[in-house]
Amino acid sequence: MGNNILKGKKGIIFGALDSSSIAWKTAERIHNEGGEFILTNAPVSIRMGSINDLAKKTKSEVIPADATNIEDLENLINSTTNKFGGKLDFILHSIGMSVNVRKGKHYTDLNYEWLKKGWDVSAVSFHKLMQSLFKLDAMNEWGSIVALTYIAAQRTFPNYNDMADNKAYLESIARSFGYFFGKEKNVRVNTISQSPTLTTAGKGVKGLDDFIKFADLTSPLGNATAEDCADLTVSLFSDYTKRVTLQNIFNDGGFSNVGVSQEIIDKLNS
Ligand SMILES: NC(=O)c1ccc[n+]([C@@H]2O[C@H](COP(=O)([O-])OP(=O)(O)OC[C@H]3O[C@@H](n4cnc5c(N)ncnc54)[C@H](O)[C@@H]3O)[C@@H](O)[C@H]2O)c1
Repeated sequence: MGNNILKGKKGIIFGALDSSSIAWKTAERIHNEGGEFILTNAPVSIRMGSINDLAKKTKSEVIPADATNIEDLENLINSTTNKFGGKLDFILHSIGMSVNVRKGKHYTDLNYEWLKKGWDVSAVSFHKLMQSLFKLDAMNEWGSIVALTYIAAQRTFPNYNDMADNKAYLESIARSFGYFFGKEKNVRVNTISQSPTLTTAGKGVKGLDDFIKFADLTSPLGNATAEDCADLTVSLFSDYTKRVTLQNIFNDGGFSNVGVSQEIIDKLNS
C-alpha cells in the first residue's frame, strides 16, 4: 500500500502495452497512491497487448485512442472528464515508435516517410495531446503532465537512430507548451529521461542488452528501473512538486553526469 499522496486526483495514462511497459508499472503505482485514471492505447496495441488485465487490476476503464489523431484525443479527453465529472490532474505520455528502428534502417539511409510516421507518433503526438487538453480546458490548476524520454536527445547513441531526433523534439515541445500551460493554467509540464529499460519499445533498439550493461556500470547508483520511473512520475503528479516545470529530469542513477566509471576502465583493461 502507498501513502495516498494522489488521493482525489484523476488522469489519463497513455502507453501501457504489457506488464513490462513503464506506463503499466506507473499505473500500478498511481493506483496504490489513490489516483484514478483512464488507460489508453492505440487500438492495435489494445488488441495485441494485455491492457485489459491492467484495467481490471487497477479498477480502471480503457478508452482506445491513436495519439496522432486529434478526433480520438478529443473523444478520449471528453469521455474522461465526463466519467470523472470534472477536469483532470495528471497525464502520462509514455509513447514511442520508430518505423526505421523497427525495420532496421540505418541512420545514414533513413526512409523519410517512416521518419515522419515515427516523429508524429513519438513527438508531435505530445503537442497534439497538450493542444487538445488546452483547447478543451481539461486540466485542473496545479495539474501535471509528464512525457518519457531518453538521453539520446542530448548525446549520441548510434543505434537509437531517428528516435534520438524524436526525443529532442519531444523535450522541446515540453518546454514550449509548458510555458503556456504554466502561464495560463498553472499546469506543470516535464519530461523524465529514463535509463535504458527492457520493454517492448526498448527491445527494438539494436544492442539493448549491452547498452543496459554499459549504463549500469557507468551509473553510480546503477540503472533506474521501470518501478523507479513510476515512483518519480508519482512524485511529479503529487502536490510535493507544484513548481517543478519545463524540466527534463534524469532518472538514470547519475549516468548523465559521469564521464567514465572505474568499472568501465577495469573492463577495458581486463
Ligand atoms: N525502454 C527504454 O529503454 C526507455 C528508455 C527511456 C525512455 N523510454 C520511453 O518510455 C516510453 C514508454 O516506452 P516503454 O519502454 O514502456 O515501451 P512500450 O513498448 O511498452 O510502450 C510504448 C507504447 O507506445 C504506444 N504507442 C505506439 N504508437 C502509438 C499511437 N499511435 N498511439 C498511442 N500509443 C501508441 C504502444 O502501444 C506502447 O504501449 C516511450 O516514450 C519510450 O521512448 C523508454
